[in-house]
Amino acid sequence: MAEDTHYESLGLVNTAEMFKRAIDEQFAVPAYNFNNMEQLQAIIIGCVESRSPVILQVSGSARKYADPTFLPYMVQGAVEMARNLGSDIPIALHLDHGDSLELVRSCVESGFSSVMIDGSHHPFDQNVSITRQVVDYAHAKGVSVEGELGVLAGIEDEVVAEKSHFTKPDEVEEFVERTGVDSLAISMGTSHGAFKFKVKPGEAVPPLRFDILDEVAQRLPGFPIVLHGASGITPEHVAMINQNGGRLEDAVGNPEDQLRRAAQSAVCKINIDSDGRLAMTAMIRKVFADKPSEFDPRKYLGPARDELIRLVKHKNEHVLGSAGKG
Ligand code: G3H
Ligand code: 13P
Ligand code: ZN
Repeated sequence: MAEDTHYESLGLVNTAEMFKRAIDEQFAVPAYNFNNMEQLQAIIIGCVESRSPVILQVSGSARKYADPTFLPYMVQGAVEMARNLGSDIPIALHLDHGDSLELVRSCVESGFSSVMIDGSHHPFDQNVSITRQVVDYAHAKGVSVEGELGVLAGIEDEVVAEKSHFTKPDEVEEFVERTGVDSLAISMGTSHGAFKFKVKPGEAVPPLRFDILDEVAQRLPGFPIVLHGASGITPEHVAMINQNGGRLEDAVGNPEDQLRRAAQSAVCKINIDSDGRLAMTAMIRKVFADKPSEFDPRKYLGPARDELIRLVKHKNEHVLGSAGKG
């Protein structure tokens, strides 16, 4: 692939039209994280079969894992697979939690159509400054930019925060105006990973802070808001994992009715990583437990891929409302 590959040559689009439609028609575009071929195929097939627009999302570490040179070829193959299936759903490739202009440049030069610059852990003015630099660079290439205000809790390879702090609604207008971002991730009670809330058995999880979302939406009418940490942590998958040799007893996520409410509001991009990881792991553990002599990767990665296709279709059809909007 050429050194400076524009996303259009891979059959990708930026997020502008997707978000416009999501706002006008009150649904959320799914942003599914992936690291490997089976996850990527499942996301595409699930979105093709439910006719949903899709944002293919990779973190810096996921890009390293897949290999930065290899990744655009995988995505190009995925887009062509969708077209061969007779689908013209819009597909974007997005950098999740980008931490520097250097990483953003490298992604954009290899065909990304959208990037996040996550300056949320910096003081406000520093966040503005790094986000503005990314916007100036990315917009010149037609690439969309997501910024973030407020910090989510949760520990992942690249996202480490012990304590969250909610987005302050009175900062959002100045941030959007000074940076020129196309969308804004906010902190309203979600967190990354599979252990989102500490609750006693039978106790309900605390509700998300819809008051923060409503105030942000009021201050930024019609502006695309992004929800990170939006996995539901499917109880059936957690149970399957625990029944088949795993140990994830305290895994708890966002109730679907809360996510549905967010998707019907100003939130027009919903990030889902942990749910996909759990779906695949649950099925792989089940196959290994049911058939201890199996060692053909197709026999456990294939069913895992099918399980992820089911999850993606369920999310698009019953949670995000993106099915039929592609
Ligand atoms: O929000 C972060 C994503 O879940 C990606 O995590 O850095 O482990 O790929 P990762
Ligand atoms: P989850 O851990 O809830 O899937 O969140 C993923 C995310 O926000 C990726 O940026
Ligand atoms: Zn995130």
